[in-house]
Amino acid sequence: MGPRSRVLCALVLLLCVVCPDQATATKYDALYKDPSQPVGVRVQDLLKRLTLDEKLGQMTQIEMTVANASVIEKYDIGSVLSGGGSIPAPNATAAQWINMTDYFQSGALKTRHGIPEIYGIDAVHGHNNVYGATIFPHNVGLGCTRDPALLKRIGAATALEVRATGIPYVFAPCIAVCRDPRWGRCYESYSEDPDVVKSLTTIIDGLQGTPPKGWKGPYVQNSRRVAACAKHFVGDGGTQGGIDEGNTVVSYEELVNIHMKAYPDAIARGVSTIMASYNSWNGVKMHANKFLLTDVLKGQLGFKGFIISDWQGVDRISEPWGVNITNSTELALNAGIDMIMVPYNYTGFLDVAKQLIAEKKVPMSRIDDAVTRILRVKFEMGLFEKPYGDKSLKNYIGALSHRSLAREAVRKSLVLLKNGKTGSKPLLPLSKGAKKILVVGAHANDIGLQCGGWTITWQGMPGNITKGTTILEGIKKTVNSKTKVVYKANPSKGDAKNKGYQYAIIVVGEQPYAEFNGDNKNLTVPDPYPELIKDTCSHVRCVVVMVSGRPLVVEPFVDHMDAFVAAWLPGTEGNGIADVLFGKYDFQGKLSRTWFKRVDQLPMNVGDKDYDPLYPFGFGLKMGLES
Ligand SMILES: *[C@@H]1O[C@H](CO)[C@@H](O)[C@H](O)[C@H]1NC(C)=O
Ligand SMILES: *[C@@H]1O[C@H](CO)[C@@H](O)[C@H](O)[C@H]1NC(C)=O
Ligand SMILES: *[C@@H]1O[C@H](CO)[C@@H](O)[C@H](O)[C@H]1NC(C)=O
Ligand SMILES: *[C@@H]1O[C@H](CO)[C@@H](O)[C@H](O)[C@H]1NC(C)=O
Ligand SMILES: *[C@@H]1O[C@H](CO)[C@@H](O)[C@H](O)[C@H]1NC(C)=O
Ligand SMILES: *[C@@H]1O[C@H](CO)[C@@H](O)[C@H](O)[C@H]1NC(C)=O
Ligand SMILES: *[C@@H]1O[C@H](CO)[C@@H](O)[C@H](O)[C@H]1NC(C)=O
Ligand SMILES: *[C@@H]1O[C@H](CO)[C@@H](O)[C@H](O)[C@H]1NC(C)=O
Repeated sequence: MGPRSRVLCALVLLLCVVCPDQATATKYDALYKDPSQPVGVRVQDLLKRLTLDEKLGQMTQIEMTVANASVIEKYDIGSVLSGGGSIPAPNATAAQWINMTDYFQSGALKTRHGIPEIYGIDAVHGHNNVYGATIFPHNVGLGCTRDPALLKRIGAATALEVRATGIPYVFAPCIAVCRDPRWGRCYESYSEDPDVVKSLTTIIDGLQGTPPKGWKGPYVQNSRRVAACAKHFVGDGGTQGGIDEGNTVVSYEELVNIHMKAYPDAIARGVSTIMASYNSWNGVKMHANKFLLTDVLKGQLGFKGFIISDWQGVDRISEPWGVNITNSTELALNAGIDMIMVPYNYTGFLDVAKQLIAEKKVPMSRIDDAVTRILRVKFEMGLFEKPYGDKSLKNYIGALSHRSLAREAVRKSLVLLKNGKTGSKPLLPLSKGAKKILVVGAHANDIGLQCGGWTITWQGMPGNITKGTTILEGIKKTVNSKTKVVYKANPSKGDAKNKGYQYAIIVVGEQPYAEFNGDNKNLTVPDPYPELIKDTCSHVRCVVVMVSGRPLVVEPFVDHMDAFVAAWLPGTEGNGIADVLFGKYDFQGKLSRTWFKRVDQLPMNVGDKDYDPLYPFGFGLKMGLES
C-alpha cells in the first residue's frame, strides 16, 4: 500500500468512527459494497483487496462467442463484448439477449468480490446488431442536420434500446474527422469539419445523461442510460489516401486542431471510455503511443474514465499482426491502454501480461491505474447495484416513438443539391396527385441497402434484413390513392420511353460495407446506375436520390438530372425521404462534407487552398415551400 492510500484508509476509518452518517457502512462487510460511499473510496477499498490475477481479469474484454459463465468466473473477466453481428441467436428477441447477458453476469457475480462485468456492443446508428431495433441514419447524414439537440434525443433512444437487451455499454460515438472519403469508415464520421463533429458530441448527453454542472470524470445517470465510448483516439480520419488503419502524417498542431478537437468536449460531458485507434501517427501506432494516450489524454486533457483497445488492437501493433504479442502487450500497457479488447485469446493475454509484470517490464502502478479507472466507471454507473438486465424495457426496441425520431433525423439529413435544369422549373416538391410515376433502382426497395454497414451484420448486406420502411413504401404511402406507382429495380434501356410517367424517382447508391472493405480509390457510382440515370432522365423528368456513405463522382452525369438529393445511409425509416420529396417538409440539410468533382482532387476539405468542389461544404438548397 502506498503512502497516499494509507492516508486515505486512515481517513476513511476515522470518518466511520466519528461521523454518524458513515455508520451505515457497518451493515456492509466491505466498504466498496456500500453505495452511499463516495466512488473514490469504494474504488480504493476494492482495489486493495484484489490479487494480480483479479486485476488483470478486470482489464480483459472477451468476445461473446468464447465467453461462458465459468470462464468469466475463473478468470475474473471484467468485460464481454459483441463484435459486429455477434448475437445470441438469429433475430434474437430482447428476452434472448437478456438471458445471455444475465447468464454471463451470473459468472462475474460468483467471483470472490462479485465484481460485475460490463457488456459492450457497437451501437453506432441505433442498436444495430439487434433485429427489429430502430436504425438511425449513419453519422455522415446526422452531420448534415447540424442539430445537436436531435443528436441528444437519438442518444437517449439508443440507450433505452441497448438497455432493453441487458447491455450497459456502447462503443459510440465515433468522433472521427474524416478528411478523405476514400476511407471505408467515412460514413461513421459526422463531418470533415472538426467544429461540426465537436458540436454533435451532444449524443453523449443522450447516451449517458447530462452530468451536473462542474462534474469531472465519467458519468452515467442511471440504468436507462449507457456508458459511451468516444472513438478512435486519435487521427483515424486522417490517414494517407484514406487507408483504413493507416498512417496519419500531420503535425502535432494539426492533430490537435482537427482530429483531437472534439475530445475535450466529450470528456467535459463525462464520456466514460475512449477507444484507442488502429491508425499510426507519423509512423507510431496509436495503441503504443504513450505520449498521446497517457501524457495528453489522461494528463493534459484530464480524462478519468478508461481507455479501451480496439479489436485485436494490441496484436496489430506488430507488423504483420500478432507476430510478437509479448512485445505488443508491453508497449500497449505502458502506453496507457486500460482495457484490452482481446477478444479471443484471453489466456494468451493473461499469461503474457503476468510475465511482463514479473519481469518488471510493466509496473504495478500501471495496472493499478488501469483497474482504478475500470472500477471507477463500473461504480459510477451503478453496475454493482444493478448488474442484471431490465426486462421491463423490452418494448423500447423499435418503438414507434423511436422510429418517428429516426424518420425526423432522415428528413433533416437530406441535402438538396440540384432542383431544376438551367432555365427550367424546379422539379421538387413532387406532385402527390400525378397519374402515373416511375420509381427505379434496387436501392428504392431494400432495407439492407438503405441501412449500409454495421447493420445486423458487421459489413451489412442487401435484403430486408430487419424491420423498417423502404423508400418505395414511403413513396407509396405518400402519393394519392389514385396515383399509379410503377417500380422497377433494374429496367432495360428505353423502358421509361413514352409510358406517360409524370416524373421518375431514381434511387441509386453503394453496396453496404464497413471498415477496410469499404476503402475505395475510384468512388464511382456503381453499375448499373450511371446508365440507368442517363437513360431514364432522357425520357422523363427525374429526381436522383443517392444512398451512399460519402459523396461519389457524379459530375459526368449530373447535367442529365432534373433534381439531385443526397440521402446518405438513412437507416430503417425510409419514409423520411418521401416526407421531403413531396413537400410535407422542406429540405434543411447542409453538406457535412465537400462534394468533390474527381477523385484526383482528394483529399480536399473546406478551407484548403485550391478548393474547387462540385458542391462546397455547407451547401444545401431549399424548395422554398410557403409555410
Ligand atoms: C466454457 O468455456 C470453456 C473454454 O472454452 C470450456 O472449457 C468450458 O467447458 C465451457 N463451460 C461451459 C459451462 O460451457
Ligand atoms: C438462456 O441461456 C442459457 C445459457 O446460455 C441457454 O442454455 C438457454 O438456451 C437460453 N434460453 C433461451 C430461451 O434463450
Ligand atoms: C519489440 O521487438 C522489436 C524487434 O523484435 C525490438 O526491436 C523492440 O525493442 C521491441 N520492443 C519492446 C518494447 O520490447
Ligand atoms: C518479442 O518481444 C520481446 C520483448 O517484449 C523480446 O524479448 C522478444 O525477443 C521478441 N520476439 C521476437 C520473435 O521478436
Ligand atoms: C494465444 O496467445 C499466446 C501468447 O501470445 C500464444 O502463445 C498462443 O499461440 C495463442 N493461441 C492461439 C490459439 O492463438
Ligand atoms: C423488401 O420488402 C419490400 C416490402 O415488403 C418488398 O417489396 C421487397 O421486395 C423486399 N426486397 C427484397 C430485396 O427482398
Ligand atoms: C430473421 O428475419 C429475417 C428477415 O425478416 C427472415 O428472413 C429470417 O428468416 C429470420 N430468421 C429467423 C431464424 O427467424
Ligand atoms: C472501384 O473500387 C471498388 C473498391 O475497390 C471496386 O470494387 C470497383 O470495382 C471499382 N470500380 C471501378 C469502376 O473501377
